[in-house]
Amino acid sequence: MSPSSARQRGPVVTVSSNKGGVGKTTVATNLAIYTRAIREDLPVLLVGLDDQGTIDRMFALRDLRPADGNLKHAWAERSLASSAQLGQYGVHFVPSPPDVALLKARAGDPRTLARILEQTDWQGLVILDTKSDLEALTQNAYHAADRILIPIADWSSLEEAEKIIALLERTGVGAARARIVFTLVDRRSRVGGAEGPTLFGRLRDEVRRRGWAYYTTALSRSPRVETLNSANRTPLSILHHAKGTEVHAQFRELTLEVLGDLGISDRLDLAPTRDEDDDEDEVWGAPARDRGGRAIGGAVRWVARWRR
Ligand SMILES: Nc1ncnc2c1ncn2[C@@H]1O[C@H](COP(=O)(O)OP(=O)(O)OP(=O)(O)O)[C@@H](O)[C@H]1O
Ligand SMILES: [Mg+2]
Repeated sequence: MSPSSARQRGPVVTVSSNKGGVGKTTVATNLAIYTRAIREDLPVLLVGLDDQGTIDRMFALRDLRPADGNLKHAWAERSLASSAQLGQYGVHFVPSPPDVALLKARAGDPRTLARILEQTDWQGLVILDTKSDLEALTQNAYHAADRILIPIADWSSLEEAEKIIALLERTGVGAARARIVFTLVDRRSRVGGAEGPTLFGRLRDEVRRRGWAYYTTALSRSPRVETLNSANRTPLSILHHAKGTEVHAQFRELTLEVLGDLGISDRLDLAPTRDEDDDEDEVWGAPARDRGGRAIGGAVRWVARWRR
C-alpha cells in the first residue's frame, strides 16, 4: 500500500433529520446490514450519536460491560478504533455513550468527528446515525460526511429538511452532499380526498421543485418493519427477518443506490491485486484494532473505485 493510500479513509454516510421518528435509525442500521450482505468484503462501522442505545441492543453480541469502550471514550481518545466492536450481521459498531450531553459539550468544534475518523483510519464504510436535532454532534456528523441522507416522511419533515440544507450551505459543508430518502411511504394516503394526488407524490414533486437530490427508491411504511423494530428489546434486521417483502426489496435497492452514489461497486472486484506502487485504485486492507490491539474488521483486501 502506498503511503498516500495508507491514510485514505473510507466513505462516511450520515443519516439526519431534525424531525423525530422519521426512520433515521431504521435506515442507518439496515443500510449497514444490507451493505455487508451486498459487499461482504467491505467492513461497515455504525456509530450512533444519541443515547437511545438502539444500535447497542440491535448489534451487541453479548451484554456490554463497563470495560467496553463507548463513544465517550472514543471522543477522548480521538479515535474510534479501540471502542469499535464486531456486532451482529458482521457490522461493527461503537457502543453508545451513557449520555450525550457531556459529549455535546466537547463537540463545539464541528470538525472534531471528521478528525477522529481520519485518525481512526477505518478501512471501509462508516454510517453515522444522529439525534433529531441540528446541534453540535449532528453538525460534527455533517462535517464528517460524504453523503447526508435526510429522511422525509411527511410535510413537516420536508420543512425540517429545508433547515438542514440551509445549515449545510451556511456552515460550508455544502448541500451537494445531501440526499433525500423518502421513508414511511403509504401510497394509499391521498391529499384532498380519494381522487387527489398521493401524499408521497406531493412530497416528491415538492422535493423536485426545490431542486434537492433524492434517491429514487422510497421505503414503504410496513407493519412488518414496525414489529421487527418494536416487538422485542432487540430490533431485528429487515434482511434476515422480512425476506420476500416489498420493504426488503426496497432496502436492497436503496443500498445499491447509496453504494453507487459513493462509487462503490456492488460486485467483488476479483481483479488481481495491483502492484505496490500502482496507485490507480485505492486498496483498503488494514484491519482496525480492538482495545487489546487485536485485529478487527474484515481484513479482506478490497478494491474501491471510490475517492474523496
Ligand atoms: N418502513 C417502516 N415501516 C413502519 N414503521 C417504521 C418504518 N421505519 C421505521 N418505522 C418505525 O417508526 C418509528 C421511528 O423509526 P426510527 O426509530 O428509525 O426513527 P428515528 O428517526 O431514528 O427516530 P428518533 O428521532 O427517535 O431517533 C419506529 O417505531 C420504527 O419501528
Ligand atoms: Mg433514531
